[in-house]
Amino acid sequence: MTKVLLTGGAGFIGSHTYVALIAAGFDVVIVDNFTNADTSVIDRLGMITKGEVVFETADLREMSQIEAVFDKHKPDAVVHFAAFKAVGESVENPLMYFENNIKGFLNLLRAMENHNARHLVFSSSATIYGDQAVQPIPETATRGYTSPYAFTKLIGEQILEQMAVADPNWNFGILRYFNPAGAHDSGLIGEDPAGIPDNLMPYIAKVALGEMEHLNVFGDDYETKDGTGIRDYIHVCDLALAHVKSLQKLINDQVGHTVNIGTGAGQTVMDMLAAYGNAVGRELPHKVTDRRAGDVRELTARADLAKQVLGFRAERDLANMCETSWRWVQNAQRMNSK
Ligand SMILES: NC(=O)c1ccc[n+]([C@@H]2O[C@H](COP(=O)([O-])OP(=O)(O)OC[C@H]3O[C@@H](n4cnc5c(N)ncnc54)[C@H](O)[C@@H]3O)[C@@H](O)[C@H]2O)c1
Repeated sequence: MTKVLLTGGAGFIGSHTYVALIAAGFDVVIVDNFTNADTSVIDRLGMITKGEVVFETADLREMSQIEAVFDKHKPDAVVHFAAFKAVGESVENPLMYFENNIKGFLNLLRAMENHNARHLVFSSSATIYGDQAVQPIPETATRGYTSPYAFTKLIGEQILEQMAVADPNWNFGILRYFNPAGAHDSGLIGEDPAGIPDNLMPYIAKVALGEMEHLNVFGDDYETKDGTGIRDYIHVCDLALAHVKSLQKLINDQVGHTVNIGTGAGQTVMDMLAAYGNAVGRELPHKVTDRRAGDVRELTARADLAKQVLGFRAERDLANMCETSWRWVQNAQRMNSK
């Protein structure tokens, strides 16, 4: 059985991917330092998968810790999620982002090389497209960045490209996610950001829960149908399956790939607010404020390459993203208040 090391496996996308990898028959070891996840996620993953969850608490920035994990578990492949991801925070503290997202990543690659594990699925992001005139965005679009966070993802892609040139034994699956949303059907895992959320759906969820008074809509003067920004929201369970397909492709065909993972359709902020309101059963309040620095009008994926290369297509719709998110955040609120 292929043994997979899942870095950041206790986080939002990582936890859902853990469930999908176990269902697909992989042997999985989670490594996480729990800077952005609660340790109780491990128990909840055990409840969903009805098995013992193998995990190690380690920080990728510490080479000795990551080496120890490789020595102990000897993984064949890695799915790498562990990183910081808040665009605004990265603008305020770029060095923190470079240390975690680049230094941590280099340590991981060094450990993989030392232990001859040459299959890696890398979490890239639609932010590496910067501001694009042509939508939906094909993978061939010029890359750029509008924040230190996006810079770390672009550098990550470029590091892997150089390594693949130097040594064809390396196999990389670079997945450029658009906007993950929703939660597992069980309501046991989902996105649970501390403080003010950086992403739209968890922000709307906090308004629905009454933890925030209203949604701040950053600008309603973009050139879109209602003036608010457009993003391509993809259900996190669909996204998790894309990782399984990417890993299978790397292992079975030894073929690297760089693909968008989105639905191919964009929603405005107001579309999202209305859809979430439908799931909750009432209209949710919002206030329009100034545009946010670094935001772009639209990020929508061309999704056909993922279908062609990985046989992957997102199946779940916006209503399901909102329903599952709403189920999860209500559960999380109950758990947090205990
Ligand atoms: N959520 C999004 O909107 C989005 C979009 C595109 C790409 N991504 C990328 O996907 C990945 C996962 O995102 P997420 O939303 O699940 O984030 P998350 O914060 O929920 O998960 C990341 C996990 O990594 C852990 N971690 C962070 N630094 C670590 C370190 N140095 N050592 C060990 N563990 C560490 C955190 O504790 C957390 O559990 C990230 O690389 C992110 O940049 C996310």
